[in-house]
Amino acid sequence: MRTNDDQWSITDSVGRTALLVALGRALETRSDTALISDPYAAQFVADSGETDLAPERIEALLDADDDPDLTRAIDLLRNMMAARTQRIDAALTAANDNGCLQVVILASGLDARAYRLPWAPGTTVFEVDQPAVLEFKNQTLDRLDATTAATRITVACDLREDWLSALTGAGFRSERPTVWLCEGLLPYLTSADQERLLTTIGTAAPAGSALVFDVPRASFDLSQMDFQAQAFGVEIDELMLDVGEFAAQDWLEGNGWTTGSDSIGALLTSYGRSSEVFTEATGDTDAAAGTVGDSIDLVVAQRR
Ligand SMILES: C[S@@+](CC[C@H](N)C(=O)[O-])C[C@H]1O[C@@H](n2cnc3c(N)ncnc32)[C@H](O)[C@@H]1O
Repeated sequence: MRTNDDQWSITDSVGRTALLVALGRALETRSDTALISDPYAAQFVADSGETDLAPERIEALLDADDDPDLTRAIDLLRNMMAARTQRIDAALTAANDNGCLQVVILASGLDARAYRLPWAPGTTVFEVDQPAVLEFKNQTLDRLDATTAATRITVACDLREDWLSALTGAGFRSERPTVWLCEGLLPYLTSADQERLLTTIGTAAPAGSALVFDVPRASFDLSQMDFQAQAFGVEIDELMLDVGEFAAQDWLEGNGWTTGSDSIGALLTSYGRSSEVFTEATGDTDAAAGTVGDSIDLVVAQRR
């Protein structure tokens, strides 16, 4: 049960969703046809002690293929994370090349982009998430002696509170062009908190800034994802507070941003991988029901 001020560790509630998407990146990284490479993802999953999520175990289940729902769940997770990660990597790199030397990753979870991407000299990557999530993440990165081309600063706070003051206190400069990322975040906030979050970003994003996020469409059918999350011990329908109610992209267009978007399915196709995995993943042969890949958008917005 979610509350207005709930907190979590990496293994429970919303925290566990960060482990789940890291598992997706780990599985994609280990596959023969990987679109992305995130060598940290499997380390995070291993260090969590959640042995049911170990990539080796999941791959063995996939090979055995004796539970069609589970096979679909794994395929869905891996492909979603492949498309989402690839597109976001490209968007952040482009913004950084275009002069955004501040990168703010809101709800950073186990995102290892601070270490994975080739940041321009002088780049600072800020990561904002709940204290226990960042503490867990930093322990693994310290153990691995991970090095980054950027300066990485973590800011432990709640995104329903005054996170901009915490960010500014950590050295963020609101007058500088910044690329902002909200990946896998919006549905875990209420509509009101989403609008507040975007409003706050707008106050700290001068022209030349960019904003990248993924968001379910109003047509998104949570039950199509439910079976996937449950296979990994995540009660997604209890954790998500707003699925497609707040029209984030439209709101941005009316509030100083120019936006463009692609569905996750379209992105996957553009990367040369069939988006049919999403149709199969739903287990639903009724085309009218749509697919998970077609009902989640990846939005890239530029500050006017
Ligand atoms: C699905 S995970 C996504 C993590 C990361 N962005 C990624 O894609 O790998 C959701 C993340 O949102 C964070 N989160 C959700 N609501 C939050 C809040 N109110 N304050 C801080 N972090 C929050 C969680 O702690 C978790 O790390």
